[in-house]
Order: sequence, then C-alpha cells, then structure tokens
Amino acid sequence: MNILLLGSGGREHAFAWKIVQSPDCSRLFVAPGNAGTAQIAQNVALSATDFQGIHQFILAESIDLVVVGPEEPLVKGLVDFLQSQPETAHLPVVGPSKLGATLEGSKDFSKRFMQRNGVPTAAYETFTADQIDAGLAYLEKQSLPIVLKADGLAAGKGVLICGSLEEAKSSLKEMLLEAKFGDASSKVVVEEFLTGIELSVFVATDGKSYKILPEAKDYKRIGEGDTGLNTGGMGAVSPVIFADSAFMQKVEEKIVKPTIAGLEKEKIDYKGFVFIGLMNNNGEPFVIEYNVRMGDPETEAVLPRIESDFVGLLKGIATGTLDQYELIISPNYSTTVVMVSGGYPGSYEKGFSISLPEKTDGSVVFHAGTALNPEGDLVNQGGRVLAITGFGSDLKGALENAYATVNHITWEKAYFRRDIGQDILKLM
Ligand code: AMP
Ligand code: GLY
Repeated sequence: MNILLLGSGGREHAFAWKIVQSPDCSRLFVAPGNAGTAQIAQNVALSATDFQGIHQFILAESIDLVVVGPEEPLVKGLVDFLQSQPETAHLPVVGPSKLGATLEGSKDFSKRFMQRNGVPTAAYETFTADQIDAGLAYLEKQSLPIVLKADGLAAGKGVLICGSLEEAKSSLKEMLLEAKFGDASSKVVVEEFLTGIELSVFVATDGKSYKILPEAKDYKRIGEGDTGLNTGGMGAVSPVIFADSAFMQKVEEKIVKPTIAGLEKEKIDYKGFVFIGLMNNNGEPFVIEYNVRMGDPETEAVLPRIESDFVGLLKGIATGTLDQYELIISPNYSTTVVMVSGGYPGSYEKGFSISLPEKTDGSVVFHAGTALNPEGDLVNQGGRVLAITGFGSDLKGALENAYATVNHITWEKAYFRRDIGQDILKLM
C-alpha cells in the first residue's frame, strides 16, 4: 500500500515508525512531517489542512490509505471533502467525518452526545453571550472549584478551573463578552469539577466495532510534581497500574460501548480513533473530554506496545473490517519523556543544534518540533522537540532506559521533567 500520513508531531513520527515496520507498507509519505519522519519516510511539503493539495497528491502518487494525525483537518472537514470528490470518494481514510470530529470541535456538542447516550460525565450547563445573566446566576449556585470551558478548539488553553466565585464570574464575562478565546468562547460550558486521577483511553473504531488500545497516563504540567502551566504533555506511561482489569471493564461497559453505539445510532460516520480523557473518581470513570485523534505524547508510549500488524489495524478502521482484526498487546512497559525548548509553553528560542547519542539501547527517539537547518544540522523548531520512549519489563526499567537516552541528548536551554512515572512507582 502507498500510505499518506498527515501531521508533523511526535505522534506522527510514532505512527510512521509503526507503519514502515509493516510488510503491507510499500511507500509512506508524511505531510508535512518533521526531521524524524524524513529519516524513515518521504516528507511532502504540504500542510495537513491544504485539502486541494492533499487531493492532488493522493492522485499523483496513487495513495491507497490516508491516515490523519491531528484534529484540525478533521474538524475542518477533510474526510467529507475527500468523499465529495469522485476520485477519492471511496478511498480508505483513518479519521472521522466533520460531524464525528465535532466531538472534539465543540464541547457543548460532546456533552450533549454523552447525555443522550448515557455516558457518565460531569454535570454542566452551556451559555452564550445573550445568556450572560443566566450564566452568572448559575455560577452562584455551584460549588467550588468550578470549570469553565470554551466550546471550540482553543489549542489546549480553553479550560479554566476557577477557585473562587469572583474569578469564575469575571472569567465567564471575559470569555463570552470579550472573546477571551476568540470565536472558540462564543459558547461556554460551565462544568462541575471532578476529583480523582486522570487516564487516557484510546479506542480504534470503524463506526460499528471497536478495539481498546493500551491506556496511558499523561503528565500535562510543565513543572515537576505537576506544577506550573499546562502544556501539550510532558511525558506518558503505559500501562497504568490503577487501570486494572476491573476498572477497564467499567470503562468498556459504561463509556466505550455507549459511545460507539451512540455513533452508530446517530449515524455519525466515524472511522478513526476516539481518545477518551477520563477521571477515575473513587473507582468510577467519568469522561472529561473526547478527542478525535490519538494523544501526544501518549501515542509514543502506546503504539510500541501494539504487537499485531499496525497497518492491518489502520486498514480495519478505514475499511469497516475491524471486527476481523486481532489486536495483540505487549504486557511490557513504555515510558515517554518529552524534551522541550527552554521557555515552553511560553516563548522560546529556535534553531539550536541538537546532538543525539549514537546508541539508544532500550529506547527510541521520536521527533516532534525538529527541523534541519540550511547546513543540515538538526535543530529545535517547536516547543515540544523530542519524545524519548524507554521500554522495560517493569516501569522502573522502562524509565531507566528512557532517561539513559535523555541524559545523552543536549541542546541549548533544553528542558525535561525528571519525575515522569514517579507517582505511579509509589503506588506499586
Ligand atoms: P481539556 O482541555 O478538556 O483536556 O481540559 C484540560 C484539563 O483540565 C484536563 O486534562 C483536566 O486536567 C482538567 N479538567 C477539565 N475538565 C475538568 C473537570 N470537570 N474536573 C476537573 N478537571 C477538569
Ligand atoms: N496529551 C494530550 C493530548 O494529546 O491532547
């Protein structure tokens, strides 16, 4: 198969790394890709949201399968666009339709979907600018802290957890009346605060059947001990000890099954991944959010644990034959440590030369925000730069392998957290 993968992050390097290991892959193209994908596939200078360009490329290179990494092209309707063009109407694509992607593109839509389909989630109300008075009155009756969420995509910044009524009221006004998150906050979901431990659950679906992939824990804050600003994710661990089989059974029965059944019942065309961000609240799962793609950096920890043929999984999703695919998961541990540019998630300098070790035993280095400069040196180009995944038969060994490699990678002002997985080690 000739495969086109869209995206440019660590997630996409991990996808590419798995795809090229499959005997079913003849040629892999990544658009736009990064310096890591360029080593194992052919990068294409096309944006993942250039629908016309992607369509032309598919025809020119006889692409047999398209795999969409990030949410943006999905929310903008790439899948519907390809289906509307005669030459690509029946092309297998991994990624949901625009309506399916609304599960991530609109928090209000996704909350209503959960309510209709009996999926456990926090209590909420949605408000628009002309309902500001009702919104402020609603806040007065809620307990604290309270969560305010911009309805639309806000690059991971649209969620505010407010500790006081005053803060909640002024934030609601800023979001609705002053467009704090632009158009994304023209609607605001006000939601009950859930306590517990978060877990990322990944489901592959062809819209009818599903396979639950390995779960992972993400480390979102920039600072050690989960302090400081939120980031795209600073590390990941898989498997997760508190996600034992009794808990995962509840997740499947109470969340995964009604979600997939809801998609089918509501005729939402969905061939792709559902990433369920959930809270383990005293042993009961509650959905915090749906994403319509895999997580980053969770993917870099999750995919290496898939032992069955990965292109087979992608084909099963895209062609509606997932029920015939046998998913085999390794019991071993994967841990991912993300190395970022100093200053991230705020402003940071780009263009520093990165030196990578020759040997990376027991680990693999995935690229995210990397590029080659005109001299051909590898340099940092984004906030999250590299994701190093270590493997081991236990968590400690996997962490040792990840950090042994991380400690041999340098560039100016590089930063990473040294405490990935430590909270889980303490539970063991
Ligand atoms: P999101 O952008 O929806 O992923 O939310 C960002 C983060 O805010 C989540 O990963 C949680 O840590 C936190 N969060 C969102 N909703 C809630 C909630 N209802 N209760 C507690 N924490 C929440
Ligand atoms: N790591 C969280 C995300 O991909 O949204």
